[in-house]
Amino acid sequence: MKIGILGSGSMGSGIAQVAATAGHEVILFDKNKEALTRASEKLQKILNRLVEKGRIDDATAKAIFGRIYLVDNMSAYAECGLVIEAIIENVDVKKSVFQQMESIVNDDCILASNTSSLSIASIAAACEKSERVIGIHFFNPAPLMKLVEIIPAVQTANDVLEKSQKLIDSWGKLTVVTKDTPGFIVNRVARPFYAEALRILEEGVADVPTIDWAMTEIAGFRMGPFTLMDYIGNDVNYTVTETVFTAFYFDPRYKPAFTQKRLSEAGYLGRKSGRGFYDYSENAKNPEATKDQRLGKNIVKRIIAMLINEAADAVFWQIASKKDIDLAMTKGVNYPKGLLRWADEIGIKKCVKRMDKLYKIYGEDRYRCSPLLRKMAKQGTNFFEKEKEMI
Ligand SMILES: NC(=O)c1ccc[n+]([C@@H]2O[C@H](COP(=O)([O-])OP(=O)(O)OC[C@H]3O[C@@H](n4cnc5c(N)ncnc54)[C@H](O)[C@@H]3O)[C@@H](O)[C@H]2O)c1
Repeated sequence: MKIGILGSGSMGSGIAQVAATAGHEVILFDKNKEALTRASEKLQKILNRLVEKGRIDDATAKAIFGRIYLVDNMSAYAECGLVIEAIIENVDVKKSVFQQMESIVNDDCILASNTSSLSIASIAAACEKSERVIGIHFFNPAPLMKLVEIIPAVQTANDVLEKSQKLIDSWGKLTVVTKDTPGFIVNRVARPFYAEALRILEEGVADVPTIDWAMTEIAGFRMGPFTLMDYIGNDVNYTVTETVFTAFYFDPRYKPAFTQKRLSEAGYLGRKSGRGFYDYSENAKNPEATKDQRLGKNIVKRIIAMLINEAADAVFWQIASKKDIDLAMTKGVNYPKGLLRWADEIGIKKCVKRMDKLYKIYGEDRYRCSPLLRKMAKQGTNFFEKEKEMI
């Protein structure tokens, strides 16, 4: 099956590489010719590097590159079984290109969007056969990140969901199915990792290196929240938070932090600008973590309680299955443990107690306990009853 990719930026070129590596011929189009040239040069470089590292041989690299066809219009999408759109994050532009694509592709071609934040239903509504539209959300960089969220809209046909998931699984990815709601699984459930760390900082409970130290050394995360925000870029991370906050009708749980907004406004974007929460310039001296065990444990308790509450609420609102929520966070974004499994380990009653304590201190809706956790604590149940259900 031929795969069409619309947009050859960071995501489009990465997805093209993934599909071509899986053996598909790929039709890659971008309205900007320079972007296409850049994508082609980048792909060539990446494949050369893979050959140098011995991951693939020269013939394989050439074959992968040879399967990617750069085109200057969309007409070749007529031969594709699936087209994945990865252009700018603007719903009106996306709707318009979906209409254009629909006038070109054949009747059973699946049209997918890689959007991170827009509703798939709104994009599908622009199409005559809206049942063929689905969200296929890769993470950046697409060739390296194993997780792909599959998002059927209310209009999406069941066989479109089944075919899409089967295909992306066959590309060696790990797919999880999620409801068409803001942030899908990962960009929703992960919000407290940043937001609660920022709150702790803003309240003066602990400084940046101490919070990062607690979350890596005590909780076992690969990167602390501030190191990660600097890595993602404070502008990008802030925008995701603000988008989720707005999309959830200003639910205080997702409220963005002024600290990050100011850093972003000041151009302290993180690694890419040389300064963020940390200074990345040569010979820079960053402050050391306090390494106070008691403080560290309290930081971990608070952030993990909020993360577990968010994951439990995603189950409560039927955003995805328990298994997929834990898989998305462990295999997709490398959390040390699935949050629901973590809740079972801590004990559901204890999780409720921690949330109620935070609520009592602050009196803010932000700290409301998920009704699901409360119900489970009353019933004495766990998320995963049997060992084999666990991730
Ligand atoms: N960058 C990420 O981390 C990331 C992760 C997951 C999903 N996404 C989503 O993927 C999509 C693409 O993001 P990106 O980071 O690759 O963007 P990008 O800016 O790197 O690339 C977008 C490309 O689309 C092209 N384009 C814009 N309008 C077009 C049109 N009408 N027709 C054809 N080409 C057009 C641009 O020329 C550009 O080359 C967005 O919806 C974004 O939300 C991004």
